[in-house]
Amino acid sequence: MPILYNDATKEFHLQTEKTSYILSILQNGQLGQLYYGKKLRHRESFERLFHIEEMPNTACTTEGDPVFSLDLIKQEYPAFGTTDFREPAYQVLQENGSRITDFIYKGHAIFKGKKKLDGLPATYAEEEAEATTLEITLFDEEIDVEICLSYTVFEQLNAIARSVKFTNHGSAEVNLTRALSASLDLPDSDFELVQLSGAWVRERHMKTRKLVPGLQSIASTRGTSSAQQNPFLALKRPETTEHHGDVYGVSLVYSGNFLAQVEVDHYDVSRLMIGINPFDFNWLLESGETFQTPEAVFVYSAEGLNGMSQTYHRLYRTRLARGKWRDRERPVLINNWEATYWDFEEKKIFELAQSSKELGVELFVLDDGWFGKRDDDTTSLGDWMEDKRKLPSGITQLAQNITDLGMEFGLWFEPEMVSKASDLYQAHPDWVLHVPNRRMSHGRNQLVLDFSRPEVVDHLYGLMAKVLNDAPISYVKWDMNRYMTEVGSLEWPADRQREVAHRYILGVYSLYERLTAEFPHVLFESCAGGGSRFDPGMLYYAPQGWTSDDTDAVERLKIQYGTSMVYPLSSMGAHVSAVPNHQVGRVTSLETRANTAYFGAFGYELDVTKMTDEEKEQVKQQILFYKENRKLIQQGQFYRIKSPFAKDGNETSWMVVSDDLEEALLGYYQVLARPNPGYNRIFFKGLNAEFEYAIEGVDDTFYGDELMEAGVQLNRCRKQAHPADFSSALFKLKRV
Ligand code: DGJ
Repeated sequence: MPILYNDATKEFHLQTEKTSYILSILQNGQLGQLYYGKKLRHRESFERLFHIEEMPNTACTTEGDPVFSLDLIKQEYPAFGTTDFREPAYQVLQENGSRITDFIYKGHAIFKGKKKLDGLPATYAEEEAEATTLEITLFDEEIDVEICLSYTVFEQLNAIARSVKFTNHGSAEVNLTRALSASLDLPDSDFELVQLSGAWVRERHMKTRKLVPGLQSIASTRGTSSAQQNPFLALKRPETTEHHGDVYGVSLVYSGNFLAQVEVDHYDVSRLMIGINPFDFNWLLESGETFQTPEAVFVYSAEGLNGMSQTYHRLYRTRLARGKWRDRERPVLINNWEATYWDFEEKKIFELAQSSKELGVELFVLDDGWFGKRDDDTTSLGDWMEDKRKLPSGITQLAQNITDLGMEFGLWFEPEMVSKASDLYQAHPDWVLHVPNRRMSHGRNQLVLDFSRPEVVDHLYGLMAKVLNDAPISYVKWDMNRYMTEVGSLEWPADRQREVAHRYILGVYSLYERLTAEFPHVLFESCAGGGSRFDPGMLYYAPQGWTSDDTDAVERLKIQYGTSMVYPLSSMGAHVSAVPNHQVGRVTSLETRANTAYFGAFGYELDVTKMTDEEKEQVKQQILFYKENRKLIQQGQFYRIKSPFAKDGNETSWMVVSDDLEEALLGYYQVLARPNPGYNRIFFKGLNAEFEYAIEGVDDTFYGDELMEAGVQLNRCRKQAHPADFSSALFKLKRV
């Protein structure tokens, strides 16, 4: 049993195959955190390992007891105001103005499987045996409010999913001014914090900093999880590398404003917390109401950052992503955006589809500009009907013509937005997020629809469902191109205005839920001006996301490497685009562009009709190669070998290995050529030491141990005779 409870010592021991998580009911009825890390043998009590002593200058909870202070105790879900001076996990504002609470243990339940989270995306168990859940109920008698802390142990996947539910049983209303998803007190602060930070076209760059006393945090206040910060952080030991050493990861299954922070206290305890950003948040909990937080997923790895990532990849690919497309090989697609932008008509689109079909492309995606009167970004969002000027036969006929070629057809939507110049806005000017009598800020000339209002979500469902019902569409790219401002809603009273940002995200989830349930054959790809909402919440509905608007092969090394900290390759849309690259002007070879994009959900985003015959032949071969290898790439075990975030950063390398270890594919990339470079070796990972492997294009075979321990001389396998800037090579290994 992966969750053990000892009634005599009041300790819970949560075990996965490789980890232990131990907590206890404290003498005051609150919950204490004892241990999280490498698996420990079970014993009656672990408390002896973690006793506390009287400390100077400390406030204590009980008269006559100079030792018991929450300031000294590692806790599970800490409160502020009763001897703990650090930032709390939650705060409940009561009718009398007080924020002091006393939530003590009331009971617990342990059961097989995992419950669904109401209205929120979350990891799940397909079979009851895959997961075990512990629910601990805490109760504050004074206000008659309950907190239920939920812990689901994925024993084999080595992850623990936590969330919290507040229920107001009392007659008075209370306000949750802070309701984080989880908190974890670690006994020391000898850690480096790893975060994924960036901006539009440079999303999820890895940043590492040493913990220092006080608060360090990342957060979003932009309405989406954002390109600036990803809802994830890791604490690693200074000596931890990609493949060795301790690391704790926490990832939030949420797509809105979040906070992830670490507070190092005066005794070097590190308190790690994650959840909905409490800044500008408040939730009114009336009598009888409940509030469910998003889920936080904890992973401890003793095998470095890469070990942590592999756990997230497996869990998120198989037990967060859902639906028909979860386990299917993803189609090679072509998207017309960078080929035409808004400037196209039916004939051009059909030609693009025809030419790409000849090259082996399986799915044609018609991007922005097919609806309303949209020739640029100033109009038509909200009017989800085809533009007959551009598409005289209509979207249904175009989709039919393209599917008649033997391809699938996909379509772009931006459901959450409206242009002022649109029929929708004319009919419902009050349907946007705004504050009466205040100016509305713009982003990309568009306004944000108020998805906290069920009628708005219903309306959008109707519009999208009609298009999806009428035309043979098997893919939807769901875009979202601006952050939120003046977050206010006419739907909600004054005391609920600070709920709007969260209610908006719940609205987005509910539309996704309805569409994915109604159109289960459709592959959804999430997008937010590239990767501004690339998070686990989206992955629950859309098994792949557009990683970044930056399609430059060199920039993509950092973006894809950083993204792979948490997200599986199957979730990362990666396209070959034209050169000079539209974002950075760089010219890279077609080979390097493909070698980079292969490590994701692969596609093209350029005008294939303008390619030379030689280039077309090359693309044909690339598509064949990807089709042969995509199961390995999308479902294999991923290893990061050389980091673009290393000091020099000139080289990047990564690889995937099939589950049976019979085949592997390694990508190697060098940004700038080096003069007279010497003998550079590449060390493979994750192979079977005993297996003998052949490397495609090399007249020799190698044992797994040789490839991993001795490595292979790079120049021996490089195809390019004259190394150049932005060069790359692939190594395909097969067991002989
Ligand atoms: C932003 C997306 O990231 C692009 O791929 C494209 O779909 C544009 N929006 C269209 O407006």
